[in-house]
Amino acid sequence: MNIRLFKPSLGEEELQSIKGSFDRSWVGLGEKVKQFETEWSKFVGCKSSVGLNSATAALQIAVQAFGFTPGKKIMVPSITFAATAFAPIYNGLEPVFVDVDEDTVSMSLEDMERKYTKDVVAIIPVHYAGHPAKIEEILAFAKAKNLKVIEDCAHTAGANYHGKILGTWGDIGCYSFEEKKCMTTGDGGMMCSDDAELMEYIKPARWLGINKEASMYYTQDMPDERKPAYHWHYEISLLGYKYNMNDLAASIGLEQLKKLPAMNKRRSEVIRTYMEGIKGLKQIGLLLPFEPEQYVYQMFGVRCEKRDDLILFLKSRGISTGVHYFPLQMHPYFKKWDNGCPVSEKIWTGFITLPLHSSLTNEEVNYIIEALQEADAKL
Ligand SMILES: Cc1ncc(COP(=O)(O)O)c(C=O)c1O
Repeated sequence: MNIRLFKPSLGEEELQSIKGSFDRSWVGLGEKVKQFETEWSKFVGCKSSVGLNSATAALQIAVQAFGFTPGKKIMVPSITFAATAFAPIYNGLEPVFVDVDEDTVSMSLEDMERKYTKDVVAIIPVHYAGHPAKIEEILAFAKAKNLKVIEDCAHTAGANYHGKILGTWGDIGCYSFEEKKCMTTGDGGMMCSDDAELMEYIKPARWLGINKEASMYYTQDMPDERKPAYHWHYEISLLGYKYNMNDLAASIGLEQLKKLPAMNKRRSEVIRTYMEGIKGLKQIGLLLPFEPEQYVYQMFGVRCEKRDDLILFLKSRGISTGVHYFPLQMHPYFKKWDNGCPVSEKIWTGFITLPLHSSLTNEEVNYIIEALQEADAKL
C-alpha cells in the first residue's frame, strides 16, 4: 500500500469541461471565470464572488480592499498556513499572532482580547482543518472594536454553521481550490462578500487594476460618435496584481463544484470511520472534536505524544502523514512577531495529519486504522 495524504478527485467531466475551453480557444480570464463566480455565490449564498489564482492572493486582496493605513495590525492565529499571516505583511501591515484553543486549535478568544491594541484593524480567523472558529464571538468583538473580519476558509467549502455557510459570516471570506483542498482547480481561490460595492471596487486589483467598466474619466466628454474608437480603453485606479483565475481553472471548478457535496459527504464518512476505529486507543487521540455530520473538513488528524515514532511507523506501512502546522512564530521569518503563544507551542508537537480525500477506499481507511491500532499497542 502507498496511501497519499491528499489527492484531488478529478474525472472525465473536468477533462470535457477543459476541452470546451480549448474548443473556444479561450483559456485566460473570461466567461468561465464569470460563470464560476456566479455559481460560487449561489452555492455559499453571498452577493458577490471574485475568482483568483489562489487563496493567498484572495487574502492579500481582501486586506487591500479596506485601505488600512500601513503599520496597522491584523490578528491571525499562530497555528495556520503562512498565507494567513502574509496577507497583512504584503499590505505593509503587521501580523499579531493569537494563541489557539487547546481543543479546537482555532483562535483563542481570551488571547485575542489580551493581545488587542488600538493599532489592530482586522482579524483573520481560520476555520482550522474545517472546524469552525468561534466566529460569532469574534464578530461580536470585532463589532465592539470596529474591526474588519476576513475569514480564511482554505480548509472548508460549503459547511453550514448555525444557519450560514462558513465564509459568509465576516466582511470577506477567502476559499482555496489548491489541489489538496475540498475541491480543486489546480490552483485557485475565491473571495466572497455581501458588500457588492466593495467587491466591485477591489475586483480590478486581481488584474493589474484594469477596469473596463467603471465610468471613464478620459472618454466621458467625447462626442458619442468618437467613443466606439475607444473600445480598447481601460483605466487603472488602484494597485493591481496578476492574480486572476483563468478559464481553464474555472472550467475545472465548475465541474468540481457539482461534485463537491458528494465529495464532502465521502470525506465525512471517512472521518466517521476513523473516529470509530481509534476510539479507545490509549496513546492516540483525535486532533479535534470533529463533527463530520455538521461540518466540512479538509484535514483529519490525531494527537500522539510519540508523534515522530508514529510517523515513522506509518511511513513503514506506506501511509503518508503530515504536520499542520509548525506554529508560525517559530519560523525564522516570523520570529520578530513572536509575542508568546504557549498553547500552540505545547500542542503542535503531538499533531499528525492522516490521509483524507474523497477517493480513499474503505479498504485503505481500514488499513490505516489497523496500523494505528497496532502502533498504539506497540509504541
Ligand atoms: C489556512 C490556509 N490559508 C490559506 C492558504 C492558501 O491557499 P492557496 O494555496 O490557495 O494560496 C492555505 C493553503 O494551504 C491554508 O491552508
